[in-house]
Amino acid sequence: MRKLKIAVQKSGRLHDDSMKILKEIGISIDNGKDQLKASARNFPLEVFYLRNGDIPQYLKDGVVDAAIIGENVLIEKGNDLNIVERLGFSKCKVSIAVPKSSKAKNLKDLAGKRIATSYPNTVNQFLQREGIEANLHIINGSVEIAPNIGLADGICDIVSSGSTLFKNGLKEIQVLLNSEAVLATSPLLSSENQELVGKLQFRLRSVLKGRQ
Ligand code: PRP
Ligand code: MG
Repeated sequence: MRKLKIAVQKSGRLHDDSMKILKEIGISIDNGKDQLKASARNFPLEVFYLRNGDIPQYLKDGVVDAAIIGENVLIEKGNDLNIVERLGFSKCKVSIAVPKSSKAKNLKDLAGKRIATSYPNTVNQFLQREGIEANLHIINGSVEIAPNIGLADGICDIVSSGSTLFKNGLKEIQVLLNSEAVLATSPLLSSENQELVGKLQFRLRSVLKGRQ
């Protein structure tokens, strides 16, 4: 039997809520957490547990049919992918922040300066829009430490509660994007699997309505 392949974050802030919403739409998965793949018992669906940053490429290549993923990751790595449903959880911002003592008030004020980020494409889009240049320093995590160790004048990273900024003596000066978890599909989705995605969407909408 054909199964819909859906990617879910393996670990990290989206994982638990992603599994929870699948459960709420009536999909039960036998889940040994160290399995990288699991089948649903009552729906033709397989879940692939993948690293966040890898998911857009798997969607593009049609290795998976759909994914529950942060919109921010899609914007960074998968601009041409389809968002078919907004899921309302894992809300966060992608923001520019600087040391509390900095005089910079927005991205423009960081022209010619060093910005540390894990979101270079996103930052570049905004730099282009503003018609300015800055030196991007790409790091994969713990970005907020960069200004303190003299590596950057500002950062661009995810802000959720704001506590990481606070703990590192930084202040948010400009929000580049607002993000939440979304259901995205592959451009190579077959019409058969499109139908299965439609069924998922139908169930998701009723659960999301109930949450409001
Ligand atoms: C993420 C993100 C921010 C922080 C935002 O980091 O990169 O640093 O969470 O959340 P907050 O506003 O609630 O503090 P994470 O802890 O996932 O680690 P990483 O940066 O090393 O990936
Ligand atoms: Mg971080």
